[in-house]
Amino acid sequence: MNDEIEHVRALVKEAASVVVLTGAGVSAESGVPTFRGAGGLWRNFRAEELATPEAFEKDPKLVWEWYAWRRELIAAVEPNPAHYALAEMEKRIQSPRSQKSQKKFTLITQNVDGLHTLAGSSNVIEMHGSIWKVRCTGCGIESVEREAFDTLPPVCACGALLRPGVVWFGESLDPDVVSASFGAAREAIVMLVVGTSSVVQPAASLGAEARSAGAYVVEVNIEPALGGPVANAALTGPAGELLPRLL
Ligand code: OAD
Repeated sequence: MNDEIEHVRALVKEAASVVVLTGAGVSAESGVPTFRGAGGLWRNFRAEELATPEAFEKDPKLVWEWYAWRRELIAAVEPNPAHYALAEMEKRIQSPRSQKSQKKFTLITQNVDGLHTLAGSSNVIEMHGSIWKVRCTGCGIESVEREAFDTLPPVCACGALLRPGVVWFGESLDPDVVSASFGAAREAIVMLVVGTSSVVQPAASLGAEARSAGAYVVEVNIEPALGGPVANAALTGPAGELLPRLL
């Protein structure tokens, strides 16, 4: 695998446009549970049963308890070497020297934990929103609330319920976010797909979009999920060990 890592490292260094898509696996080594697989369950609920408008309608307190649990858990963890490596990659690619040759780096994440930003990444597309944002179901005002709520479900000053500022199953993503993500994927020379099971759309199609537009697609995962038709190469192992080696 050393040769493969060296090959990808050289490609990343030279590429005019590098795009990285991350999923829950990139935060696993920080101690944030992934959604699927062992440890991906909360009180025997799956994400798909809680992260829906119907679940919120039926039992907003239950849904908020899940989000409050995740907010508390995420507040207590720190970025890991995978997050820091991606922040460093961005800095190197966007350094004033590289800027003369107009190199591009785009980080697209499905994660709502904000750990990429905390690690120093500045250009992050959060496809599924942020767990630190809340939005009023009545007046629509969105704000960042990092403090724990005294009572659940929290209520807006206007009297309506607040909801987490994330995208739920069955909801549309922000069209600007989708077009920025797919636009970046189409322009990618190298695309890294890191720590995602690639089952939730539309993010799951970004690798294929990049590949069909000519990118070299590299999957980084403890259990590669993309498969041969999409990935040109698979680096199998923990993101926190492999990504720093790509610098
Ligand atoms: P999943 O939980 O579906 O997948 C996590 C992936 O990370 C799996 O492929 C694991 O093999 C891999 N993995 C675990 N630990 C790793 C490590 N240390 N290094 C590298 N890879 C590792 O998470 P996502 O694909 O991100 O959406 O899930 C996509 C979406 O489904 C989430 O954004 C969320 C969820 O329901 C919403 O809430 C809308």
